[in-house]
Amino acid sequence: MAAPADRRETILILGGTAEAAAIARRLVDAGADVVTSLAGRTSNPAPLPGRIRTGGFGGAEGLARYIVENRIARVIDATHPFANRISQNARLACAAAGISLERPERPAWEKQPGDNWIEVKSLGDAAAALPAGARVFLALGRQHLAVFESRPDCHFVVRMVDPPEKPLGLAGYDLILGKPSVNPEEEADLFRAHRVTHLVCRNSGGDAGYGKIAAARKMGLPVVMIRRAT
Ligand SMILES: NC(=O)c1ccc[n+]([C@@H]2O[C@H](COP(=O)([O-])OP(=O)(O)OC[C@H]3O[C@@H](n4cnc5c(N)ncnc54)[C@H](OP(=O)(O)O)[C@@H]3O)[C@@H](O)[C@H]2O)c1
Repeated sequence: MAAPADRRETILILGGTAEAAAIARRLVDAGADVVTSLAGRTSNPAPLPGRIRTGGFGGAEGLARYIVENRIARVIDATHPFANRISQNARLACAAAGISLERPERPAWEKQPGDNWIEVKSLGDAAAALPAGARVFLALGRQHLAVFESRPDCHFVVRMVDPPEKPLGLAGYDLILGKPSVNPEEEADLFRAHRVTHLVCRNSGGDAGYGKIAAARKMGLPVVMIRRAT
């Protein structure tokens, strides 16, 4: 006999990515009770199927409490591959609550013929790898820009979904409001318009951010690629 609708298992998706939205869609279409958790970094996130909750849980303990109080049966960690803190919290909280945790794999991008990658292990190493006078597209979240303030000899191009609350600390920069395009031609047009000579990004993997990588390859631009932590 099917369980009554209000006794369905609740699945918590830790989201903020295109993959998380696709998983929510698949599970909701299959009749599951799904709540997607967003960190709340963007002011106007795209609509999602199922329920949404927003904001931090208060560390692993807060997440464990949320799991128990909301009778969560499964957690799917579909956060960004570089969102290490929430993933670690999810591991600890699920272990404490005794429930299963799934972590869908998002493979890193592999270097292709024609790619000119300078692979580094940290943001600091990325800042140090830039030559003086470079015009650098920083494909990084706003919380990762401060380290580039040490390079007033470079000009930066920064793209954000929401405008910053105060001017950035970078000595010289162009600000673009918008999202990455999956279309390499559009990314290449943007790079040309801003006379970009270098791209800095993290090896996030996935399709949503790959347009810029393919554009850099076509244009022969060096990419300072920050590796994932192993
Ligand atoms: N890192 C990226 O480049 C990137 C790119 C695209 C999307 N995102 C998305 O943006 C969010 C934040 O990324 P981050 O790199 O700042 O993460 P993070 O460093 O791993 O997390 C920092 C804190 O933010 C809160 N948090 C993060 N993700 C959350 C979620 N899905 N729901 C509720 N709270 C969350 C947690 O606060 P508490 O400890 O208080 O729970 C966590 O300790 C993630 O959901 C991620 O999927 C990140």
